[in-house]
Amino acid sequence: MNTQIPQNQRVVSGMRPTGKLHLGHYHGVLKNWAEMQLNYECFFFVADWHALTTHYDDPSGTPQHVEDMVIDWLAAGISPSSATIFLQSEVPEHAELHLLFSMITPLSWLERCPTYKDQLTQMDEKNIRTYGFLGYPCLQSADILIYKADYVPVGEDQLPHVEMTREIARRFNFIYDCKVFPEPEPLLTEAKVLPGLDGRKMSKSYNNTIALKDRGDVLRKKVMSMITDPARIKKDDPGHPDVCAVFAYHKLFNKDEVEQIECDCKAGAIGCVGCKKNLYSKLVDVLKPIHERRSEIENNPKMIQELLLWVGI
Ligand code: TRP
Ligand code: SF4
Repeated sequence: MNTQIPQNQRVVSGMRPTGKLHLGHYHGVLKNWAEMQLNYECFFFVADWHALTTHYDDPSGTPQHVEDMVIDWLAAGISPSSATIFLQSEVPEHAELHLLFSMITPLSWLERCPTYKDQLTQMDEKNIRTYGFLGYPCLQSADILIYKADYVPVGEDQLPHVEMTREIARRFNFIYDCKVFPEPEPLLTEAKVLPGLDGRKMSKSYNNTIALKDRGDVLRKKVMSMITDPARIKKDDPGHPDVCAVFAYHKLFNKDEVEQIECDCKAGAIGCVGCKKNLYSKLVDVLKPIHERRSEIENNPKMIQELLLWVGI
């Protein structure tokens, strides 16, 4: 995180309700949010309307996804006493500002947006050729500008949306000759993409995730099933840590030993099974506070009830 940033500034970020979160979310986003909530005025929200832009035909899973995701947020250390946590659709002013922004946003900006063009080629085109999906960045701009945010922590894929937010702020201020909206800065989360168990990007759709709630045997089996350097057959074959998913995890979660592991792997001095057992014990340490907070939440029915009320179930 950029330590140059002065205190008492406002941060806004949202996440679509994808359900239970995994280690990639923790490493890439939640750890960052948990740190930021201590130094900035933070607004973290569940972007359930954004989920509707692509899943309008079946929103039935959303309440459960919201609940699961928010429990993971709390377990990961996002705290309602430090940050404002809310559900986008509970604040209808987001929709109202989105409507007003839709009046001044040129169609060409939306049509040219790289995320829009990508999604059109990746998804079944018919399903997302809608007014709402085209306006996705316009809704995101409303989410950010409604709070006059100074900073928006996002992954690289979201940069075009923050850029459009800045353009919409400028255009609004220009057309109405005012200074209502400041231009927010993106805060790029430095995290590289965490590989999944099979070495591809960690993603639920690849079924290769380590969920934040995974523990004990489930966690152990997942770690032991991770793919390593395929060229290593025997324990003393020299390894190539750069192509090994296990090593990518050691780099992130076992900084003390990573250099030694790299040498030993290249020299064929350690075996993959031992290397994975070592990683497992490090992940247990990383996940321990998250699991403890989760148990606290799950053992507190009143808190869950409040949460359910909050997500409108
Ligand atoms: N589009 C973002 C994503 O997919 C989620 C989001 C919605 C968001 N509104 C936001 C992120 C406002 C930051 C600020 O990740
Ligand atoms: Fe990967 Fe460790 Fe095996 Fe080397 S020893 S290939 S780093 S699991």
